[in-house]
Amino acid sequence: MDFKPVDIDTLIKRSRHACEQAYAPYSGFKVGAAVLGGSGGIYCGCNVENASYGLSICAERAAVARAICDGERSIRAIAISNSTGKASPPCGACRQVLYEFAPEGEILFIYLDTIKGVETYTLTELLPSAFKLDSI
Ligand code: THU
Repeated sequence: MDFKPVDIDTLIKRSRHACEQAYAPYSGFKVGAAVLGGSGGIYCGCNVENASYGLSICAERAAVARAICDGERSIRAIAISNSTGKASPPCGACRQVLYEFAPEGEILFIYLDTIKGVETYTLTELLPSAFKLDSI
């Protein structure tokens, strides 16, 4: 892993802050995410729920959208925090969206913020045999 420990601490801190901003009046489950872009920039997102339920946006995809809008085209890592302190791995839809920006062969690290510490996964562990353009 080519990140200094301080990078992970910073990412976790930013994802916790994003979690505090979450709008989750329906589930009560607040999630925050901080993405580390290829340029070294950090982009945050939180879940944004809606009265229609189905239109709710996940924290991870909100963070990816911010990174892309700021010009990033690759993602090196993402930290995810929630209001319970138990690990909350990204949902299947978010894994697929993350895959789009973790180019073939490059490892995307996923840091889950828990009460006990940080759980680390690669995207390949969480999404083996991902759907990609040449799957069509
Ligand atoms: N949620 C996320 O933000 N990320 C995930 O990967 C899973 C679920 C949010 C969506 C909803 O606002 C709440 O958690 C409960 O599902």
